[in-house]
Amino acid sequence: MVIVMAPTATLEDIEEIVSLVGTAGGEAFVSRGVSRTIIGLIGDVERFTALNLGGQRGVAEVMRVSTPFKLVSRENHPERSTIRVGGVPIGPDTVTLIAGPCAVETPQQTLEAAQMAKAAGATLLRGGAYKPRTSPYAFQGLGEAGLRILAEVREQTGLPIVTEVMDAHDVPLVASYADMLQVGTRNTQNFALLQAVGKAGKPVMLKRGMSGTIEEWLMSAEYIAQRGNLDIVLCERGIRTFETATRNTLDVSAVPVAQRLSHLPVVIDPSHSGGRRDLVLPLTRAAIAVGADGVIIDVHPHPEQALVDGPQALVDGDLDELAEIMRAFPPLLGRTQV
Ligand code: E4P
Ligand code: PEP
Repeated sequence: MVIVMAPTATLEDIEEIVSLVGTAGGEAFVSRGVSRTIIGLIGDVERFTALNLGGQRGVAEVMRVSTPFKLVSRENHPERSTIRVGGVPIGPDTVTLIAGPCAVETPQQTLEAAQMAKAAGATLLRGGAYKPRTSPYAFQGLGEAGLRILAEVREQTGLPIVTEVMDAHDVPLVASYADMLQVGTRNTQNFALLQAVGKAGKPVMLKRGMSGTIEEWLMSAEYIAQRGNLDIVLCERGIRTFETATRNTLDVSAVPVAQRLSHLPVVIDPSHSGGRRDLVLPLTRAAIAVGADGVIIDVHPHPEQALVDGPQALVDGDLDELAEIMRAFPPLLGRTQV
């Protein structure tokens, strides 16, 4: 069951609902969105019904839910949400460009990549300080030193930062630097991590598991929402299929499907899905055309020297075309570029 509070509901109204639910032996998970608060209930629905929750002060609506996810479901929140990251919107009216290096390697490389991103029209900077690598011998990221570099580059460029956190224990540290926390494809079902980012007080970009269904992805988002954080952006980044020509197969249909099921924004990562530079711009066009609320793209000043994922990074010569796509495509869909 889900309680949708009226925009005018007070803290006391919310606390009263939580306490009533407790008296009926249930648990209430409060998620505060920009425009309203939603309370997800776990427990005996019949006992909740007897509480007459719909008649309580501040309650706009009480809903029984039929989808396995509640707080992120569009059934309970028909308007699509806009999430703000350091003031930058990601939502249905805009197409947000997030770009930067796959990994933070040096201060110079990160600054140059951020300047490239900005030149192409990016309003958010991506960059990993903690890298999930297949091989334990591969570059694992600079850790906190990388976060410090990102913070300096944010100062120099004004771009808020999106960066991955891989371990629940690191969440407070990464959240102290990041404007948005990223949960990568390998951690989409790391439930302890999802709960920790749900409590971190920062927006979260949740990538789809490379072998995960859309429903599993939304259930993972529900873990974050259940801990009080509805500022979640879903990211489709390609799934594993039989095809070997690309690193992963970009599932473009995941965008409208997820947007129909959930009110959360959905962005596409054309870099990690294709894994090839020559596919990034075509997949970016596809992403915008299918209705993605943004794209997250790797750029690198010297990809031949990159410590991670050089073959998929855009270079200087690609930026004019990226900027042109970002300028021309969103208005065709009634959106503005951000
Ligand atoms: C990139 O951001 C990931 O860390 C990278 O795609 C990992 O892949 P790999 O370790 O298999 O190269
Ligand atoms: C990344 O964006 O840096 C990353 C590791 O992506 P994914 O989790 O999609 O592989």
